[in-house]
Amino acid sequence: MAARLVIEGGRPLCGEMRVSAAKNAALPALCAALLTAEPVVLDNVPALADVVTARALLAGLGAAISDEADGGTRVIVRTLASHEAPYELVSTMRASVLVLGPLLARSGLARVALPGGCAIGVRPIDQHLKGLAKLGADIAIRNGYVEARASRLKGGRITSDLVTVTGTENLMMAAALAEGTTILENAAREPEVADLARLLGAMGARIEGAGTERIEIEGVAELGGARHRIIPDRIEAGTLLVAGAITGGDVTITDAAPRHLTATLAKLEECGAEIFVDRDRVRCRAPERPLAADIITNPFPGFPTDMQAQFMALLGVAEGHSKITETIFENRFMHAAELCRLGARIETDGATAVVRGVSAYQGAPVMATDLRASASLVLAGLAARGITEVSRVYHLDRGYERLEAKLASLGARIERVA
Ligand code: EPZ
Repeated sequence: MAARLVIEGGRPLCGEMRVSAAKNAALPALCAALLTAEPVVLDNVPALADVVTARALLAGLGAAISDEADGGTRVIVRTLASHEAPYELVSTMRASVLVLGPLLARSGLARVALPGGCAIGVRPIDQHLKGLAKLGADIAIRNGYVEARASRLKGGRITSDLVTVTGTENLMMAAALAEGTTILENAAREPEVADLARLLGAMGARIEGAGTERIEIEGVAELGGARHRIIPDRIEAGTLLVAGAITGGDVTITDAAPRHLTATLAKLEECGAEIFVDRDRVRCRAPERPLAADIITNPFPGFPTDMQAQFMALLGVAEGHSKITETIFENRFMHAAELCRLGARIETDGATAVVRGVSAYQGAPVMATDLRASASLVLAGLAARGITEVSRVYHLDRGYERLEAKLASLGARIERVA
């Protein structure tokens, strides 16, 4: 039987907790090492299931990966042993598509399994492919694989039809070794995109405007090695702060980047929490009872879709009615039905969910369906009366480093049982 978490709720979480590094910054950084034959050393790489998958993917492509005594992760791809990202790996981690741009830019050839859909949506990669074709690549889809070829990519202007995070990252990495200048319009502004640009810059790339909607990349003939520290995880940070707010506690996160959390902190304040920010620390003191608030998810700097589920759990015990509008993924309310098993009153209709706050959750067995849904069920379990059992927690391990240990050290009664 897959591991599950058993939570005895009703205890306020209090204390300090260090934030781990961002999964969604570590994965593109690892893939960027494919762009050079020199060593790339990454500091602060989180111990996550998705990082294990990324390491296996890179090793299959010819990377030598070692853990340094000083905590760094050293990646060297002297020569490519393969140009293929196999379905077995891509199907377990969609972000594997981030090898497409680097492989094509480095060797002129890439064969990457199409990721397919996932629990939260269809998630096509048409914008990635459209962009690479604009840089001169021949793209074909055969037997469930993207086959891309280019003698050398040529710079161009790419206007994305919609904001895509990994799409922007893939094209930025491809353009870094292209001939001439590339302009990415309507680019993603997420902090993870800017962090990748910092790494590429340290490797010798010429990139302007990362973190804004217009990024200019002047291609170079070759990239070198670099050492880079991965940014803190703004979604883990937000999840820990909501854990304090939903349990009536007082939680301080450290080693965080508050400027990446503005929309999340503003929403916590709207829910009645007191927020104190001091350099890399954020303290959240819970209200007597959370207040209702409306949420509309948007690309950064808007409210992050990756915090939507956690806030649904919080608003489920708030005073009043809240409306949540999910604009990024078409199927990201799977957690609503499970929260209703804990006594929540939530009605979903397409992209909106109406949450009628109840005074308390009742513990029950629930099932996780995806990474952030699993976090929302854990948060609800921490607030519930009685025992909650969350099954399929392998979803959680993909994106949270030792979450139950962190919550336990803040006072939670939570245990993983096999
Ligand atoms: C990144 O996914 C994150 N993953 C996701 O985090 C996050 O939810 C998402 O950005 C949005 O913030 C990583 O960084 C590894 P998108 P990504 O391309 O890049 C559509 C988590 O919980 N789209 O920005 O795959 C797409 O279907 C995960 O940590 C196209 O239509 O997301 C979606 O509706 C989940 N065509 C929207 O755009 C494309 O070519 C945004 O997706 C690309 C995207």
